[in-house]
Formats: sequence, C-alpha cells, structure tokens
Amino acid sequence: MLDPKVTELLVDQINKEFYSAYLYLDFSNYYKDIGLDGFANWYMIQAQEERDHALLFLQYLQNNSEKVALEAIAKPDKTYHSAKDPLIYGLEHEEYVTSLIHTIYGAAYDIKDFRTMQFLDWFVKEQGEEEKNAHDMITKYDLFGNDPKSLYMLDQELAGRTYTAPSLTLD
Ligand SMILES: [Fe+2]
Ligand SMILES: [Fe+2]
Repeated sequence: MLDPKVTELLVDQINKEFYSAYLYLDFSNYYKDIGLDGFANWYMIQAQEERDHALLFLQYLQNNSEKVALEAIAKPDKTYHSAKDPLIYGLEHEEYVTSLIHTIYGAAYDIKDFRTMQFLDWFVKEQGEEEKNAHDMITKYDLFGNDPKSLYMLDQELAGRTYTAPSLTLD
C-alpha cells in the first residue's frame, strides 16, 4: 500500500497522461487537416508515448495493490491559427507535466517513499527529454517553417519518426 496523498497524485497522473495523449492526438488531427502529414505522424507517435506513460502509472498503482477509479478525460481546448501554434502549446504542456511529476516526487520525498521516488526517476529524466524535443520542434519550425521547400523537407523528416516502447518496464 502507498500513502493516500501520493496515491491520489499518482491516480490523477494517469488522467493527465491520457489528456496529454488526447491533446497530441488533437495536434496530429490538426496537422493532417492542413496537409502536414509528417507533423501529424510525429504527434500521433507522441500520443502513443503518452498513453504508455498513463499505463505505467496504472500498473505501478496496481502492483502496489491500490484500487484505481478512472476519471473522465478533458476535451482538448486549443485553437490553432498557424502550424507553429501546437508547437508552442506542446512546450507549455510539457513544462506543466514536469511540474506535476515534480509535485508527486516531492510528496514521495517528504514521507520517504523511496519506492515511488525510484519509479518516478524515469519520468523525471523523460520530462527533460520531452521538454528538449518540444523546444527543438520550435527551433526547427523557426528555421524552416517560413519557406515552403524547407517546410516540406522538415515535414518529410518528421514523417520518419517511428514508435518505440518506453525503456521503463514494470514487472
Ligand atoms: Fe507523459
Ligand atoms: Fe518521450
């Protein structure tokens, strides 16, 4: 069994990760709509990663004999005026998710819940990567987004992203 406060935060994180998946699915859907299939692919795979994160939180709670009640996933409420908009929202969102992970880590740290801290270590590192990826997308868009030929090539590059399962696995 885990501490009730830590458990509550971990259960809520399942919802937040599924929301991330839903938000990135919305980005993907938008890019598909405007004909940037590579960007659409990149965010479709990002959505799959987020679903994986949600399932890892669920599995961790199950492995610790916690009863989990799944809540409704919020509707993605972003409006996009240009192809750069999702990239900006993406970085903001990852910074927010980092703060959530740090809050859970802090709660586990306060009560010396070393098991949860060890579980969260992977997510602390992962968030560093996610923020970097989100940042890099903005940098690339700023460099190449305004010229149709280079935007086409960037889109082609993003079309090459393939799904890989998370390096964290729980027994
Ligand atoms: Fe995530
Ligand atoms: Fe990732």
